[in-house]
Amino acid sequence: MRKTENEKAEGCEVSLDPNIFDPELFGEHAGIAVAYLKSYMNDVSVRGLNLIDPPSLIDAAKKLMTKESDTIAPFDEKRFRMILDLYIGTGIPVYSTGYMGRQFSGVVPLAGIFDLVSSISNQPASFYEAGQLPNVAEQIMSTELNRFIGFEDKQFTMVSTSGGSLANLTALLAARNDKLPGVWSNGMPAGVRDGIPAIAISEDAHYSITRAAGILGIGESRIIRLPVNRAGQIRAEKVQAILDEARAGGLNVFCLVASAGTTSMGAFDPIEELSGIAKKNDMWLHVDGAHGGGLLVSDKFRYRLKGIENADSLTWDAHKMLFVPAPCSLLFYKNKEKSYGAFKQEASYVFEDHADIYSEYEGAEKNFECTKRPSIMNLWLLWAMHGKALFAEKIGYLCRLCRDAYELLNEEPDFEIIHEPECNILCFRYKPQNMQEYIIPDFQIQIRNRIRSNGMFFISKVNIHGETALRAVFMNHEIKSAHFRLLLEQIRQAGQLIINEHTNIILNEQKHGSQVFLNNVCL
Ligand SMILES: Cc1ncc(COP(=O)(O)O)c(C=O)c1O
Repeated sequence: MRKTENEKAEGCEVSLDPNIFDPELFGEHAGIAVAYLKSYMNDVSVRGLNLIDPPSLIDAAKKLMTKESDTIAPFDEKRFRMILDLYIGTGIPVYSTGYMGRQFSGVVPLAGIFDLVSSISNQPASFYEAGQLPNVAEQIMSTELNRFIGFEDKQFTMVSTSGGSLANLTALLAARNDKLPGVWSNGMPAGVRDGIPAIAISEDAHYSITRAAGILGIGESRIIRLPVNRAGQIRAEKVQAILDEARAGGLNVFCLVASAGTTSMGAFDPIEELSGIAKKNDMWLHVDGAHGGGLLVSDKFRYRLKGIENADSLTWDAHKMLFVPAPCSLLFYKNKEKSYGAFKQEASYVFEDHADIYSEYEGAEKNFECTKRPSIMNLWLLWAMHGKALFAEKIGYLCRLCRDAYELLNEEPDFEIIHEPECNILCFRYKPQNMQEYIIPDFQIQIRNRIRSNGMFFISKVNIHGETALRAVFMNHEIKSAHFRLLLEQIRQAGQLIINEHTNIILNEQKHGSQVFLNNVCL
């Protein structure tokens, strides 16, 4: 066993035998993992999710664990490969053309490699001294991306967070502390003077917003749900009257949350109109662009976020439509000063006694996290190496692909389209002729389940205007219209099988005089 200089110096022995910190071994292990991932990415089969029941997966995982011992078990290549198999084999196949189920992206591989660099060099990003380049990269990326938002150069700021949910929570905290002074120090009752604190959000807002309201002490019953149109966008023409009514009922609606790409349909709220309403009513406007923020870098699709420069804050997930490893979320503020108000009473950057030339570059004061992954590095690296065009091209393709899929559906009479897509999310129903209306929602769930267990495609189900629909999210640029066409065929086949099975049961059951249900819905 090698002795490090430190060990020799201190005369102590460390029994890390075999030396699992050996750089040679690191190279070997990385080689195995990289070769594995290469063949995984080379697999061009159309495949969906391999969903395994949890107890079986626990069993399989436990079988791969080394026996309890007082000595360190040596590296076992076979075990390592089997763990890789289990991990990758049960994961969402983000690089497959059958994957249309969720908003997770197949990451740009170079960003994945760089994530390894961050992991091994372990540079937590909240403090300058612990992660110098990450802190600088955050500044650079904020300026690069703000070109597409349009906040005033010297006024705005950005902080990265671990996920869009945390970004939304942080933004709502800043909003609350800005609009309800004293709450940070004295608790919620201090703000009641002007009415009971409340927020207004879309009927279709992501659940992280309602969770944030719960955490902030606003309470679910003080969340005002704004109605949406068939396209899933907030009906701006209704908002003022709703706010007036809330105010008359004793509520102080201090924040309005709009979405730029809702989770269910990818709908974009009318930000420009809503920003006018927010201003008139002295409300903070937060835009949840976790999904759709990426469209800002596309000259063709940026218009979906028209008026974004008037928002007070914007959540933008880089791990969704900027294709870097999760989590990497960006929270932009129009006003830098207010970003400091999220986690303290004084909503401004206060130079402490120890402040130095580095302090201003640190995200820690604006961020809930203390130890924070330098996830911004993956984004900065891609931007530095390939530039904006990489993102604009991919986003443009995914939105066009979704539009093509919509047009294809338009020609299929047995499918019902729920909305005209605004980005890369498309919701629809399979509705064969003569099927009774009240069966349709349950039928969609059965189709989704059947498609998932077939293992060729992975799509999701979603609740829209109170009814279940199928949802395809296009995150992989390898998907072509032909794959979507194949999916429709699979849906038809699955639907036919479900109908046949249930019809057989009905015929069978009728003989015995009982009624049959399709998951509790009579056929
Ligand atoms: C619109 C929207 N907001 C927020 C979130 C939460 O983001 P994250 O999963 O990064 O926490 C999502 C996630 O899908 C989303 O679609």
